[in-house]
Amino acid sequence: MKKILLLPGDGIGPEVVAQAVRVMKKAAEIHGIELAFEEDLIGGCSVDATGTPLTDAAVEKAKGCAAVLLGAVGGPKWDAVPREQRPETGLLAIRKELGLFANLRPATVYPSMVEASALRPEIVSGVDMLVVRELTGGLYFGAAKTYEEDGIRKSYNTMSYDENEISRIGRMAFEAARGRGKELCHVHKANVLEVSQLWLDVMNELAPEYPDVNLTHQLVDSCAMILVKEPKIFDTLVMSNLFGDIISDEAAMITGSLGMLPSASLGEGGIGLFEPVHGSAPDIAGQDKANPLATILSVAMLFEHSLNAPEAAATIREAVSRVLDAGHRTGDIILPGQDITPVGCTAMGDLVLEQLDKN
Ligand code: IPM
Ligand code: MG
Repeated sequence: MKKILLLPGDGIGPEVVAQAVRVMKKAAEIHGIELAFEEDLIGGCSVDATGTPLTDAAVEKAKGCAAVLLGAVGGPKWDAVPREQRPETGLLAIRKELGLFANLRPATVYPSMVEASALRPEIVSGVDMLVVRELTGGLYFGAAKTYEEDGIRKSYNTMSYDENEISRIGRMAFEAARGRGKELCHVHKANVLEVSQLWLDVMNELAPEYPDVNLTHQLVDSCAMILVKEPKIFDTLVMSNLFGDIISDEAAMITGSLGMLPSASLGEGGIGLFEPVHGSAPDIAGQDKANPLATILSVAMLFEHSLNAPEAAATIREAVSRVLDAGHRTGDIILPGQDITPVGCTAMGDLVLEQLDKN
């Protein structure tokens, strides 16, 4: 019996998690996997109920589970609250508490979705990359302060990494590249930043352990440029926390479908946290309009990485592909001029379940 903690969170989080849970139960049934579910609060809903965006009790619950499925956090209601009470602080805290130092964000273009990108079809068709982002260090967690000196307001954040933090994410990225196209691009800013030079050195030191993987280095500004010019050349990319935050959004949008991209956050232990890359979309929350596919595909990653059930992951991915091939779309992935009636969040869940039933 594997325990899964559900943290639906804010905005569209609860809606997309509800559909993903239906899919998870069905896929588990098909593959004879026994699951038990627990649920707790994170983000703004937790602030409202408990005064903090993540309670110790929720962290303890997570530690007793095989995996966590998270919806989304945040919304305008909590924009003005102090930083320690912001919904996002809860997300950063759970990543840190569970030691989830590696964030895997695949950006894949489905053949039937090529037209959805803002880039020309010939540029995006065949794009299939994986951004491996360091998640518990760097600028997000370095010393930070805002203060006043000589009547002038000042502020700083610091980006610091030690070689062990770099080599553990580096190894994870080499392994991931090994299982994909065997090309690993390390993204950095070593022409300016000391800390990037350490990354570059450590990545080069690891390379001989992975002779089958081709390691390259790319400056982050130039990487951002190449992503819109020739995204197909990238296979696996690895980078520090803030670079990964920015580059993974760019990579995601190249596919034209932020509403479809899953992510996995992993640590040294088996426990993983799985969440859609998109946010809480407060503008459409509660209207049954959200696209549940990113969360459903995050469930596929959950089966693969935390439950050691790649066959269940494949079943879910195939079902999603078939639904898309049949032309079904939620509003976010319908292009201007396309004559398609959007399906809602629940209806999209129904369609995926229907395909799973054919197994
Ligand atoms: C992400 C998000 C988070 C981050 C925010 C919500 C704290 O943008 O997961 O990419 O910056 O890591
Ligand atoms: Mg982000």
